[in-house]
Amino acid sequence: MAMRIIILGFCVFLTTVAVDRNNFKTCEQSSFCRRLRNPKQDGSPYELDLSALQIFDNYVETKLINVQANIDLKFTLTALVGNIFRVTVDESKGVHVRYKPQFALNGEPQVTKLEVLERNQNILSVKSGDNKVILTAKPFKVEFYKNNVLTSIANGKGLFEFEHYRKKKEGENDVDTKEDPGAWEENFKSHHDSKPKGPSAIGLDFTFPGAKRVYGLPEHGDKMALRTTGPGGSDPYRLYNLDVFEYELDSTMAIYGAVPLIHAHGPLNTVGIFWHNAAETWVDITNSKDSNVMSSLVNLVSGSKSESSVDVHFMSESGLMDFFVLMGPKPKDTVKQYSSLTGVSPLPQYFTLAYHQSRWNYNDQDDVTTVNSNFDIHNLPLDVMWLDIEYTDGKKYFTWDPIKFSSPENMINNLTLTGRKLVVIIDPHIKREGGYFLHEDALANDFYVKNKDGTVYEGWCWPGSSSYLDFYDPRTADYYQSLYGVDKFKGTTHDVFIWNDMNEPSVFNGPEITMPKDCIHYGGWEHRDVHNEYALSQTFSTFQGLLNRSPNLRPFILTRGHFAGSQRYSAMWTGDNMALWTHLAASFPMCLSEALGGISFCGADVGGFFNNPDEELLQRWYQAAIWLPFFRAHAHIDTRRREPYLFSETVIDRIRTALRVRYAHLPLWYTLFWEHESTGEPVIRPLFYHYPEDEEVFETDNELLVGDSVLVGLVADAGLTTVQVYLPGGDSARWYDLQDFKLYRGGTHKISVDMDKYLAFYRGGSVIPRKDRPRRSSAVMHHDPFTLYVALDEKKTASGTLYVDDYHSFEYRNAKKYLYVNFSFVGNKLTSSFIDKTDYPTEEWIERVVVLGPPAGIKGAKLNSKSLGIVALEVSYDSELTSLTVRKPGVSIREPFTIELV
Ligand code: NOJ
Repeated sequence: MAMRIIILGFCVFLTTVAVDRNNFKTCEQSSFCRRLRNPKQDGSPYELDLSALQIFDNYVETKLINVQANIDLKFTLTALVGNIFRVTVDESKGVHVRYKPQFALNGEPQVTKLEVLERNQNILSVKSGDNKVILTAKPFKVEFYKNNVLTSIANGKGLFEFEHYRKKKEGENDVDTKEDPGAWEENFKSHHDSKPKGPSAIGLDFTFPGAKRVYGLPEHGDKMALRTTGPGGSDPYRLYNLDVFEYELDSTMAIYGAVPLIHAHGPLNTVGIFWHNAAETWVDITNSKDSNVMSSLVNLVSGSKSESSVDVHFMSESGLMDFFVLMGPKPKDTVKQYSSLTGVSPLPQYFTLAYHQSRWNYNDQDDVTTVNSNFDIHNLPLDVMWLDIEYTDGKKYFTWDPIKFSSPENMINNLTLTGRKLVVIIDPHIKREGGYFLHEDALANDFYVKNKDGTVYEGWCWPGSSSYLDFYDPRTADYYQSLYGVDKFKGTTHDVFIWNDMNEPSVFNGPEITMPKDCIHYGGWEHRDVHNEYALSQTFSTFQGLLNRSPNLRPFILTRGHFAGSQRYSAMWTGDNMALWTHLAASFPMCLSEALGGISFCGADVGGFFNNPDEELLQRWYQAAIWLPFFRAHAHIDTRRREPYLFSETVIDRIRTALRVRYAHLPLWYTLFWEHESTGEPVIRPLFYHYPEDEEVFETDNELLVGDSVLVGLVADAGLTTVQVYLPGGDSARWYDLQDFKLYRGGTHKISVDMDKYLAFYRGGSVIPRKDRPRRSSAVMHHDPFTLYVALDEKKTASGTLYVDDYHSFEYRNAKKYLYVNFSFVGNKLTSSFIDKTDYPTEEWIERVVVLGPPAGIKGAKLNSKSLGIVALEVSYDSELTSLTVRKPGVSIREPFTIELV
């Protein structure tokens, strides 16, 4: 909610504005959600027919029968590499084929061996590694065990539903759809959904014995630990990519992105479910208490001491039932298991991790040039300038406004002189204007999404009347990719990157501000089936386009709409937030949920998109946003200009400090992104990820970890003078405030926060590589030397990693041109060694080592490396003896070395 000042004549009113909920459905207003959430029949009509069982090396297949409707479904259970099971349910003789998402999976998952343990008429028990699955025919359920402990049950509550496709018959007794009035066609506001294929929803419940919290399901403006929903409480979490104007917080409403993944977590086990479905989906979350008979039985059977269990109920409007059970057993495992299915964010170019300056809009090319030089004048580092929709000629993408942006190449060259880049926006709606090449090509070649009657769909967006490219058609995708070539998108260069916005898709006059569900895509799929992956289909094409344009440059794309797998092609941001403290606070949980959903490259508009932040909020926002992976300031066209140099000297100083802290840590961010690409570990992590048994942190989302070495806290309210920070790890843990190196032990601390103070702590036990020389852009830091911050744990040891390469190309993959260095500090000696057998001819070297929590009585240090031999180095303690600096080792990071404190 936001306060808006309305000036009418001489009167000034303060009004409250918020999302217009009337534009968006509640579960009660959605026929399939109503049908599946409140099943009316007594008992489930579904039974497995184990007499039809077929057993293969990696999977089993049998019939799942709807005994009331006498319909056979095909049920499969497959064992996948990496402790994952896949379950599918499809129609055996369906009237229509069911849709399976085309873009989410990173290739076909690898299968592994499945062994049958026991089989009779009612039970089939199989095993794969230390995972076991027991299928029960009647009542139909599937139980998953890790090391013989029951960790999840599918259909434990009997909510399995599969509305098979069928022809509507006159006067049919609509048993399966419970005679819901919206089952065969549905109205919402003035919009009619014709549902030509009739009802086709699927649903299933999962019970997680021992789980205390459920995480995931991005994107919502909500806390990281998902709330319980249910009758009398809030609506289920809704996954349906939507452009929600002034979206609200603490809400289960759908917004721009949809990742149908949950992690159910308890102190003993973590299990994940990836519900591989791109249709509109609602997810209920309920807690079963100790008194619940089922959970008590579960505890008895499993020997689990836990008192709680959580139930999660997925309901989708159409598509195949296809889900993956990620067997854990820890959060690290479920996150990696998910990445093994849907892929990772590839290592981005270095500049993408630096600071981005955007607004809707920079007025013209001179404006861009002026902003760029003002950053230099004020010594504010900057890497990327952004252009919003007004740079185009009348909102026609791939064109430039001929007056305001008459010489884009000059403007771009001006930026690249200081190593900076440009990002321009390209939306998926195409202006329907005669003479616009893209529209004419699209019409001539049949590249647009169609209405149900086969005519081209027309909706309203920024350009006015628009049509929407159908990226599902490989011909459209090929054509679209070619548009990004510098020969086609005239005025651009290899230093221009892309922002795909409004790709939910946003249709101002469509139902719920999006495309009607009965629109048709290539292959005859209804928009209903593919909706949540439309944005991903666009970014897939954009990514290929940038790769074709610049084959040896890593693409950079920002997307607003997103789905499972979007991480492979793009970064995302949390859309149109507001200049409010609550929205600053929401940026942490929202990005943490994305990171748990495989999408590490996440940020929020710094300063808030709508409205004007006051100086305090803006400064706090910068101090926090430097710790999110994607770091961009952006603002609505109606807001006041707020480039950091426009404020008082004190404010500029503080923002400059924050920017420099970000730039100093770029080596850490870059290393983490490399590690993310190679291992699937998220770049930012919630505390429970590293402290999965510490129940104190199960709901903590106002703090986050950058990798495992930096803990960051939020200062997210006006006038705060102190903030409570919880540092995990107990009494033996050590944390060092990175501003003054003050040492804290694990526990809760009340910390004073004047306006210069931000909350960031290095974990004792880690080595953090930094580049501390202030520069105007990251490009000019490439050859700068490193300072290693060695934060010692209670045993006076530490370790950490550093990754370097050419910071932009694919040679790290194609030619193994990179260095991946391990630093380890034990027995007063810092040792560097290479983790991979690779090389890169870097000029980077170590200029300083700062030891936090240093041993006492050190007089000097001794460097030992092949090229330099043994060299005596000077050391000095700071006045409080909290740090010890080793001066000028001067050793290249291209060779192994040791530095011993003596
Ligand atoms: C909506 C985006 O969320 C916002 O960031 C952008 O400025 C506007 N579209 C205009 O393109």
